[in-house]
Amino acid sequence: MKYLLHLFLLLLVVGGCANGPDAEAEPENIVVGFSQSGTESNWRKRHTESIIEEMNKEGYEVLYRNGFMNQDRQIQDMRTFIAYKVDMIVFTPIVEDGWDAVLLEAKDAGIPVIVVDRHIRTAEENLYLTHIGPSFKAEGNRAGLYITNHFQNSSQTSIRILEMRGLAKTSSANFRSEGFTEVISRDSRIAIVASLEGDYIRSKAKDVFRNYIEENGWIDIDVLYSHNDEMTLGILEVMKESGIVAGQDIIIVTIDGQAEMIENLRAGKVNCVVECNPNAGWYVRNTIKRYLKGNPIPNEIYMPETVFSDKGNLESIPPREY
Ligand code: AHR
Repeated sequence: MKYLLHLFLLLLVVGGCANGPDAEAEPENIVVGFSQSGTESNWRKRHTESIIEEMNKEGYEVLYRNGFMNQDRQIQDMRTFIAYKVDMIVFTPIVEDGWDAVLLEAKDAGIPVIVVDRHIRTAEENLYLTHIGPSFKAEGNRAGLYITNHFQNSSQTSIRILEMRGLAKTSSANFRSEGFTEVISRDSRIAIVASLEGDYIRSKAKDVFRNYIEENGWIDIDVLYSHNDEMTLGILEVMKESGIVAGQDIIIVTIDGQAEMIENLRAGKVNCVVECNPNAGWYVRNTIKRYLKGNPIPNEIYMPETVFSDKGNLESIPPREY
């Protein structure tokens, strides 16, 4: 039975050729279970690669599963890792709530868990080692700052924003809204007039935006604030079809910084790209190494990020790998 389980899990192994999980957990034969939440964007794909690449560089064996945006599936994947007695679980939660039971099982099994990217909310404390990810609130702040600066000297008396939110019940969507609202509320002329949900998915945002402008028109919208590049790419297609000059008729602020979006920024089709850093791998690797050496681990590890806009030097933006 155990052999079958081993065989089954070996099929899921990405890279690495360390000893099996029964061997004593020396740094060179550490087994890491990595549960990724989805494949919805180039950003997400780079995030996955970055973690696997860095684990492999360290010589860790990686058991990789993807939940394809389904929480139950992710929980099942984590239970598989627990059954396999991995040394460490790394997981990127699809949503904020609902992880207590499986995290308790990991804790009881003595397996430390690192939460990466989005945050989670648990009833009980100390169910995971640390959270590694971006400050989504700061991303929202940066997006808002671009808008307040852009309209600072404008004579417009009202500035109307359409917000395309990411997936509901995620910390990334909630904090990106919160950070943005915090900054734009300093200028009483600026208001969000529509807040739609595109789930971080290009085709969904495209449909939702098209339906919105069919019902309401677009002439009153001054700004699009989109929570990720994939959704923005879908909306840009609808803008093109509808004769909207993106970046001029509607000012566009988007989050992530995918290569294609930087090209759109250079072409003047979007105005501001707030970076969300997908390269979490090095931070995860460093944290695991430090943990294994017995070093204290902070509860929260933030990753550095920046912002690119049409007010800056577009030629100096480093090449993107996502
Ligand atoms: O949680 C981070 C967000 O999730 C990224 O901005 C987005 O592209 C991904 O889908």
